[in-house]
Amino acid sequence: MIPVILSGGSGTRLWPVSRQQMPKQFCDIFGEPLQTLTLKRCLRMGSPWIVTSKALQTLTELNLKANQGDGANQGEAVKVVYEPVGKNTAPAVAALCKLLLDQGKGDEIVGVFPSDHLITKEDAFLKVVEFASAVAKENRVVTLGITPSYPETGYGYIQTKTTSLKDQAGLKAYSVVKFHEKPDLKKAEEFISQGGFSWNAGIFVFKVSHMASLFEKHQPTLWNQISALKADASNLGDIYAQVQSISIDYAIMEKLSEAELACVPADFGWSDVGSWDAVAALQKGQDIINVKGKDNFVFGEPTKNYSMIGLEDVIVVDTKDALMLVKKGQSQDVRHVVETLTQAK
Ligand code: GDD
Ligand code: MG
Repeated sequence: MIPVILSGGSGTRLWPVSRQQMPKQFCDIFGEPLQTLTLKRCLRMGSPWIVTSKALQTLTELNLKANQGDGANQGEAVKVVYEPVGKNTAPAVAALCKLLLDQGKGDEIVGVFPSDHLITKEDAFLKVVEFASAVAKENRVVTLGITPSYPETGYGYIQTKTTSLKDQAGLKAYSVVKFHEKPDLKKAEEFISQGGFSWNAGIFVFKVSHMASLFEKHQPTLWNQISALKADASNLGDIYAQVQSISIDYAIMEKLSEAELACVPADFGWSDVGSWDAVAALQKGQDIINVKGKDNFVFGEPTKNYSMIGLEDVIVVDTKDALMLVKKGQSQDVRHVVETLTQAK
């Protein structure tokens, strides 16, 4: 399998640690940047590709260099495509498919992985990906499904059928009735109460020639433009100047029929680390002296003393130039702080 890491995103949901110039995948929140953890996982599957933006080249190269120290010249096994501007994930995947087709790799299986997720059960995850690869050989785009726990509107939802397509060592692949990207709250609530839906983990496993045919069928304009890409990617800038910005979820996944899709529901300790609430649920944070209070969380300086009096369920994020305090459950609203700061610039 050819593991591909998509790393061109620029969220600010973990402000003040993540910034425009320092997106989440490069932030050191769990001991190592999420992109490094993703790369290490992918190196266990094959020789990875990274598709990212030119603006993140320095950070990407630093990360690769740091990884080379880890033994067998890992950095050199990694191929990187730098996009001149971010056009979201559909053009990134299409360009990658074109480059692989040019290398005669149409029959290879690709796994596309976001660079900014945490996966705590890595061995279980690798088994799931291996199983998904076997299913993808039968010309299906395979998604990995997570059991939903609340009506999140920032995820895709996969409506699965009940009879399995393939069954191996405790894992099952199901055909998919429909893929719904980022429903509104009402729809998400309906999906949860109805049952039979999984969250999309944002990971896609497919055969290169199959994905190319799906682009040709569902996004003919984009595929036409990408088809002009040279094997050395030297004209990527010209092509990217024309292509539409759209995610693979809207461009392809939502358009696929039952026969073209599959879902493998699995538990591999997945989190997309989409908020400080998510971080607080995943790790302990700094030690805090709590007086008449509890359940607080601090992400800050290891050498600093933190104390909180009469406070409950508060998240504190302390960096060199910014301090943020938020009540647990409201950390998605950090985007309003970022909006205010951006407007003030
Ligand atoms: N190369 C490249 N170029 N990568 C990009 C670009 C781009 O223009 N835009 C985003 N990415 C990368 C991000 O860095 C991330 O690793 C991955 O692609 C997914 O993009 P997100 O922007 O984080 O997607 P999302 O979180 O809104 O939604 C996706 O993930 C959810 C799970 O976290 C969808 O696949 C949802 O269906 C899914 O539930
Ligand atoms: Mg994301």
